[in-house]
Order: sequence, then C-alpha cells, then structure tokens
Amino acid sequence: MEQTLTQAAPVRRQRILSGIQPSGTPTLGNYIGAMRNWKLLEDEYDCLYMIADLHTITVRQEPAKLRQQSIQLLALLLAIGLDPDKNVLFFQSHVTQHAQMSWLLNCFTYMGEMSRMTQFKDKSAKHADNVNCGLFTYPVLMAGDILLYQANLVPVGVDQTQHLEICRDIAARVNGLYGNVFTMPEGYYSKVGARVMSLQEPTRKMSKSDPDDCFISILDGPDAVRRKVRRAVTDSDGEIRFDPENKPGVSNLLSILSALTGEKVDALAESMAGKGYGELKSAVTDAVIGTLEPIQASFTQYMGDKAYLESVYRSGAERASRIAERTLSKLMKKIGFVGR
Ligand code: TYM
Repeated sequence: MEQTLTQAAPVRRQRILSGIQPSGTPTLGNYIGAMRNWKLLEDEYDCLYMIADLHTITVRQEPAKLRQQSIQLLALLLAIGLDPDKNVLFFQSHVTQHAQMSWLLNCFTYMGEMSRMTQFKDKSAKHADNVNCGLFTYPVLMAGDILLYQANLVPVGVDQTQHLEICRDIAARVNGLYGNVFTMPEGYYSKVGARVMSLQEPTRKMSKSDPDDCFISILDGPDAVRRKVRRAVTDSDGEIRFDPENKPGVSNLLSILSALTGEKVDALAESMAGKGYGELKSAVTDAVIGTLEPIQASFTQYMGDKAYLESVYRSGAERASRIAERTLSKLMKKIGFVGR
C-alpha cells in the first residue's frame, strides 16, 4: 500500500521567559519555586532565562559583590542542568532593549497601578531611606522583560503573580492602542512549592534578604542545612499533618519534602503520622542535602572555567538581543518614531 507523507508545517514552539535577581545566593525557595522547573521545560519550549541584574539596583548593591553574585548565578543555572544550547541564558544588562522597552512602557502605565503593588509597599517600608523611582517602576521593567520576547509562559513562584497581572494589563493596553504588538503571557506555577516559606517565620515566604536562619541557600553545606532544619519553627502539638493555616511550620517542611522527593504531600503526611518532628526534620535534611550536593559539585566546576561562562553569556546576549530588537522596533514603529 502506498503511503503519502504530508509535510507538517513547522510549528513555532511556545516561548518561555523567566528571570532571577543576582541579589544574593538563591534560596531553596528560588530553586523549588522556579529554577528546577526551568530545567523540566527545556525540551518542550523555547526558553530564555535571564539574570535580572538591572532589577537589583532598586536596592543599593556593592559593585564587586554584584559582579561576583551575577557570575555565580550563571554558574548555578548551568549547575542545575540548564543546557545553554537549548536555553538562552543571559544577563539582562547585556541586552540594552530592556532599558529602552522599560521607558516606552512607563508611558503606558499609571502611577495608581504602580502604587498598589505590594512589593513596592513592602520594599519602600524596608528601605525607607532609598525609595527611588526604579523601585516604583520595577514592575514596568519586568513587564518589558517578558513582552520583549513575546513569551507565552512565565514560570515563577506565586510571589510574582501581581507583577504578571500588571504585565498583562500593560500588554492589553498597548495592543488595544496599536494592534497586536505583544503576545499575552500566562504565569506558570508548580503544583507544590510555588511558595516555600521561611524556616523561622513560616507565615512569610522564604527570602534571601531575611536573616540567615530563615532560609537555606543553594550553596549551604550539609552542616548548615542540618542546623537550619533542626532549628526550623514548628509548633507544640506534636502531630504531623498538612494544614498550612494552623500548622504552617510543619506544612512547610512537608511541602519541601514533597517537592524534593516527588511524593505527594498527603501520602507523606500519612506515612509520617504518629512519628515525631525529629523524624520529619531528618527526612527533610536528607532530601535537601541529597539535592544540593550534586548541584554544588557542578557549580564548583563551572566556577573554575571563567572562559566557558563568558562564552555562554556572550552568546546568550546575542541570541536574546536579536529577538528583543524585533519587538522593540515593532513597537517603536507603531508609536510613530522615525526608523533609523
Ligand atoms: P526573584 O529573584 O525574587 O526570584 C526568582 C524566582 O524565584 C521565585 N521565588 C520563590 N518561589 C517559591 N518560594 C519562595 N519562597 C520563593 N522566593 C522566590 C520567584 O517567584 C521567582 O520566580 N522580579 C523577579 C525577577 C524577574 C522576572 C522577570 C521573573 C525580573 N524579570 C521576568 C519573571 C519574568 C524577582 O525578583 O525574582
């Protein structure tokens, strides 16, 4: 029997863009909520991952430290297994279109929208001596990051939801005025661990800007992990049960364990019922150390090869710029600027 082969038209894969700030070493929250999901997406999507260095200067940074943290973050992205051929890895500041797009979008964003942002309210209270305009318009820069690449999906933790919503609002406004300029992006959240909580204050998210005991850093060695998990706040009723409202500390440990082992939270809670918190903590400690050790070994290797890191970020910037320029030119033309 004869078969006719029909050539399917090439379909562009959906595009993904996400970012992380080099404002310290990433935490287990960054890893579980965002970074490890990035690795899972690389075969199905066209992915761009950005080290959001422009975002960090909304808060004062020490220059040498910022440079070091930025390079380390690139080495960490490689160490978690992101393949630089499949994923475009780049520094935001190397792609000048981000700053340009940010200005354009500022003119399509309202003061009222920005003043409602919870992150602005939190950060301006925390850094009352430096409530700069960048802190205020940070979500516009972030909207530009996403829209420049016509991203379909944005894999982030739930703390970024409000930023994504405003990004969609800005995109809809610009599209409404000028026709279809931007793809409408959607947030992409993991089922477990989209919000890993602080070990000391489990009703707040784990954050690298909190005191050291509140978070586990991806580069923490086994002793530090053991100590921090042992000291993690639980409660006094002694029962292992998943109940984030009444038992935030225990539930957070169960979520971390679930995210790292792949076992469902309910199944874990059931298998641990009747056991003490000590056992839960030791299971969490083993899972965290087991996850971090290979990442740290690989990180050390990448940090020893600066020439390779440089080749990765240079090629990443080139590939990212090409895409970003297309969107930026398109918008500038629509707005009415004379082309060069
Ligand atoms: P940043 O650097 O604060 O965090 C990077 C990613 O980690 C997630 N995350 C968490 N997830 C679960 N539990 C936690 N405790 C936790 N803490 C952080 C964040 O949700 C994020 O996905 N504004 C962004 C960076 C950015 C960006 C972008 C992201 C700039 N431009 C464009 C997406 C698209 C930020 O400050 O992430």
